[in-house]
Amino acid sequence: MINLFSNIVAVVAVSAVGVFADLKNKTDYPDGLSGPFTPGLNNYTEAPLEWFTPWGAGWIPKGCKDRFIGKGYDADDAEVFNIKYTDCDQAWTFCRHKDAQLSLKDMADSFGRMSVHMRSLVRHPIALPASSGCSALAYTDIGDVVMLGNCKGLTVWLHETGHQLDARLKPSNRFSGTTPWLEALERDTCVPDSYANTNTVEDFAQVVVVAQHETLLGYKPEEAFPGCLDQRQSLLERTFQSDYLEYVGRCSNRPRDFEIVSTKTTKREKMKMMKRAKAQEGNDPNVVGPCSFP
Ligand SMILES: *[C@@H]1O[C@H](CO)[C@@H](O)[C@H](O)[C@H]1NC(C)=O
Ligand SMILES: *[C@@H]1O[C@H](CO)[C@@H](O)[C@H](O)[C@H]1NC(C)=O
Ligand SMILES: [Zn+2]
Repeated sequence: MINLFSNIVAVVAVSAVGVFADLKNKTDYPDGLSGPFTPGLNNYTEAPLEWFTPWGAGWIPKGCKDRFIGKGYDADDAEVFNIKYTDCDQAWTFCRHKDAQLSLKDMADSFGRMSVHMRSLVRHPIALPASSGCSALAYTDIGDVVMLGNCKGLTVWLHETGHQLDARLKPSNRFSGTTPWLEALERDTCVPDSYANTNTVEDFAQVVVVAQHETLLGYKPEEAFPGCLDQRQSLLERTFQSDYLEYVGRCSNRPRDFEIVSTKTTKREKMKMMKRAKAQEGNDPNVVGPCSFP
């Protein structure tokens, strides 16, 4: 009885945010996107890194501090950097835990390989350690992206930024929840990979990876079921390609940086922040993930 009840609660909670699991029974890339998509994306992109400067010790953007402490880390263990690319006047502030598997160079490179307009959807790229593999989170109401573990692959960065594109800081108006998108999904016959079958939000982010490859290289890697996701892909391209996926132009409409706070945290503050993060985890529809990939 208890199990049955909790199942019902779970189903109600899921449908309340308009998310449907197990969308299709065919996957276009059965082994995941990383293998087929990474070589082409890497060949055709380069991070236009101009300079980076470390912040002095003791200060951190509030969003980074919240994430660090929420995940049980010490904000004093953050390496905070400003990273400037040639195609945007304003630098991005990155936060990296000193033990994160991703180096600062990895972060600057993977992030910088995305188009400047995709980068402009992100406020702070954040890297934390993980005991194995890679998973990632997107805070879609504020624009932050958190990489946990060894997340070098451009497909992962595009996926997380794809969540930001879906929401554009207004998670209640996600594009993946609109009628045109759901109708296109209805007409299509596959999902990009098994992870996309998690729900419509994860599916959207994987279609972003597919559309980005096609925009950049003019084709997509060989499909198991040719054309099976073309309705969604072409709708996504019609809606977002010229403003986000093309590798031209300059940055605009960046989310405003967080206020800067001290890394010092009292025990009491820390308890409060961890409690808040715990309550948020799994319950806040603005937080997408942890996403993990085959
Ligand atoms: C896949 O889904 C379609 C449409 O829902 C259905 O007609 C078909 O029988 C399913 N195939 C398998 C192998 O489950
Ligand atoms: C990437 O570049 C390598 C080396 O030039 C080449 O062999 C390979 O075919 C390219 N792959 C794609 C998908 O463009
Ligand atoms: Zn995701």
